[in-house]
Amino acid sequence: MRAIARAGPNIALIKYWGKSDSAKNLPAVGSISVTLDDLFTEMRVELDDGLDGDILEVNGERRDELRRRVSACLDNVLGPSRCRARVSSHSNFPIAAGLASSASSFAALVVAAAAAGGQDSSRGDLARLAGRASGSAARSLYGGLVELSLAGDGIVVETLLGEREWPLRIVAAVTDTAAKPVGSSEAMEISRRTSPFYSRWIEEQAADLAVARDAIGARDFPALAAVAEHNCLKMHSLMWTSRPPVVYWNSVTLACLARIRSLQEDGVAVFFTMDAGPQVKAICLPDDEARVREALRTVDGVQAVHACGIGCGAALVGGA
Ligand code: DP6
Repeated sequence: MRAIARAGPNIALIKYWGKSDSAKNLPAVGSISVTLDDLFTEMRVELDDGLDGDILEVNGERRDELRRRVSACLDNVLGPSRCRARVSSHSNFPIAAGLASSASSFAALVVAAAAAGGQDSSRGDLARLAGRASGSAARSLYGGLVELSLAGDGIVVETLLGEREWPLRIVAAVTDTAAKPVGSSEAMEISRRTSPFYSRWIEEQAADLAVARDAIGARDFPALAAVAEHNCLKMHSLMWTSRPPVVYWNSVTLACLARIRSLQEDGVAVFFTMDAGPQVKAICLPDDEARVREALRTVDGVQAVHACGIGCGAALVGGA
């Protein structure tokens, strides 16, 4: 009746932006991501038929305003007549800092909930359940470089390259830790309804996925860098051209991009990506990590720099 699971966040290299079905939370496009090591969320789920309602604690504090989404996810995993649960979550990185805490949280939650309920679900089923809570969470069930594909009226997730097959490093520069002006679900919907570029984004995604998949298969860093930066900027262009515009960047975000461009001009193998927030993630090869870290750490206004490698998928860490 009790289980603890751990999952790492993931960073999309080819982005998910837009839903084909909001009720089922189905993404309108496939995506490719990298699951991170070192950063993690640990979820403890304890089922207790003596409780009247679910209880949620995040990093030791009651968070009733987040409970509805967690309860809905538990209903999906355990069925609507399940017992109530005491859920506690601990992350070793700032929540809502654009480092995908919802992905690691829901990935760990479905694994812990299924184990606490005595279910023997496949990883694919758990990924689909996590994806119903948050699209990007489906990818954190898998380690390494991961692709989420659309299949019929659902999704399929798989590892393209395992966590030890290409030792990329990810350096995240935190430029602002304030809560986002608008959450990604709502922002995606605004883009779908109002950006004149939305249909083009959907049309071009298969080609970007194919280029990235081939680059990953060939461990071709320059090819992956080019398509990942292009795809990221296309996603942010959708946001900027939405009505009202959705702008997550700040001046420090732009200063980090300029710093990465000058590293590239100096021959450093590095590229950037950004999600629904102002943080900048630089992906590089291990030999260049120290230089990339130092370059981002010394950008005026950068509050912190976290570096990590590629991690494994969500897993149980204990049953007590
Ligand atoms: C920009 O997975 O947070 O990070 O399904 O509505 O919960 P919901 O969205 P979410 O969106 C992630 C968007 C992104 C790109 C990505 O991770 O692919």
